[in-house]
Order: sequence, then C-alpha cells, then structure tokens
Amino acid sequence: MSFVCTLCTLRLKISLKTGKKYNDKSRSTRENISKLTMNKKIIIAIDGYSSCGKSTFAKAIAGELNYLYIDSGAMYRTVTLYCMRAGLIGKEGVRTAAIISSLPDININFIYNPDLGKYETFLNSANVEKEIRGIEVSAYVSRISQIAEVRTRMVELQRQIGIFKGIVMDGRDIGTVVFPDAEIKIFMTASVDIRAKRRFDELIAKGEKVDFEEVKINIIARDIADENRDISPLRRAEDAIVLDNSRMTVAQQMEWVHDLIHRKLHDS
Ligand code: DC
Repeated sequence: MSFVCTLCTLRLKISLKTGKKYNDKSRSTRENISKLTMNKKIIIAIDGYSSCGKSTFAKAIAGELNYLYIDSGAMYRTVTLYCMRAGLIGKEGVRTAAIISSLPDININFIYNPDLGKYETFLNSANVEKEIRGIEVSAYVSRISQIAEVRTRMVELQRQIGIFKGIVMDGRDIGTVVFPDAEIKIFMTASVDIRAKRRFDELIAKGEKVDFEEVKINIIARDIADENRDISPLRRAEDAIVLDNSRMTVAQQMEWVHDLIHRKLHDS
C-alpha cells in the first residue's frame, strides 16, 4: 500500500466557519497562538468516540494554525471500501488473509479540492469521499480496523505524514499509539444520543435514507468494537485532556482549545 502525500506539499489553509464571531480575548489568544506556532511546529492528537465532531474540530484547529489535517478514520474507511468492492468483506464474513495480501494494491490519497475548500479521499486515483462516509462502510469498518496488519500499515503511513509535525490528526489511537509524544492530546466524548443525532442529521443532509435507531445502534456497536479490540483499543492517553462537547458549540470548543494551545506552547 502506498500513500501519495499530496497534502504534504499543498499545506493549504482550510478555514471553517463556526457561525459565531470570536470575542476580543479569543482573537488576541488566537493571534498569540499563530505567532507561537510559527516558531514551533507541534503535533495535535485528537482521539475519541465515533461522531463526536472530532473532524470538524480538528479541521478548524488545523485551518487556524495553517497545519495539515489528517482524518485517520478515512484511511480505515478507504481500506474497508476496497475490501467490500473486492468481495473480501460482506455478509459471508471477512477474508482476512486475502485482505492482508491485498494491502499493497490499496493506494490512498488525500487531495485538496479548492472548490469545496477541503481535502477529499481517493482510492487508487478515484474520489471515494462520499462512499466511505456511507452507512455500509460504517457497518464494516470496525472489522477491518481490527486486523493487525491493516493497523500496522496505517500507523506507518500516519507517522510518515506527521514526520515534519505541524499536523492535527484525529482517530482512536493517535495519542496512544501513532504519536505518543504529541505535544497536545485531546480525548473527545459526548452522549450517545447527541452523537447519533449529529450523525443522523449529517447523513440526511447528504441525501442518505437512514433510520435514527439504525444510526444509533451503529454508533453503539462501533464504541464497543473500538473499546474492546485487542490491538490499539480506544483509550484516553494518560496525558490527554478530556473534552465533553455534548453541550458545546464549535465556537465554544475553539475558545477552549485556544487556551489549551496557548498554555502548552507558552509553557514548553
Ligand atoms: O473516525 P471514523 O468514525 O471515521 O472512523 C472509522 C472507523 O475506523 C472507526 O469505527 C474506528 C476506526 N479507526 C481506528 O480504528 N483507528 C483510527 N485511528 C481511526 C479510526
């Protein structure tokens, strides 16, 4: 498996509208952070449960700091899609040995789409951004992400991407396994109902026909699978700071993180 790191060269700024203007204190903290991060590139690891808003939050931080944003879940989803298409996973079960031997045939790219202002995921040169977010991939991805060889390969690629720092990566094992020395580690959580509602709204907005209970069951099943798998289970790193965003807007989360980044960079 290879990873064409288009984003390493692009390093384009992704800006995210939070729908709320920052207050003066927040703005000045943000300006200070920009100055500090210009001199010192760091790694920000964001882990947590499914549908906690990790990617929205991580993207917004990366946009402000002009850092790379990597959605590690998209990588596991892309491998899953490949396996589904190749008949290596389905109702009949999982063909683990065949999946492992297929790994060299799976090329994952993240390519910036200037029209949408965001990176999109490509599998062997085809844009799969929409497909990998669908309910079918979501139903199988936990099985794929349990395979040790898949994880080893993903972690290797993720470390390569982060070699120059200046990166925000979100996932399940970023602070514990991928970047145990990350300067900032955040562990995100929110109630199951709130997460299911967010995911449901997202899928409906994308035109998918989904049932709320089905979405909720998928989230609960993925929590169980993520927390209980043998390799790299979802855990809060000892030095990660917990962010429960059940009742927080994106703007509030950004204010919270500005203070955190400012403190960490100032103290180090
Ligand atoms: O973040 P997400 O829901 O798109 O992730 C999809 C799946 O991939 C999720 O069920 C767990 C798995 N995953 C993982 O095992 N390790 C990561 N670093 C990221 C995602």
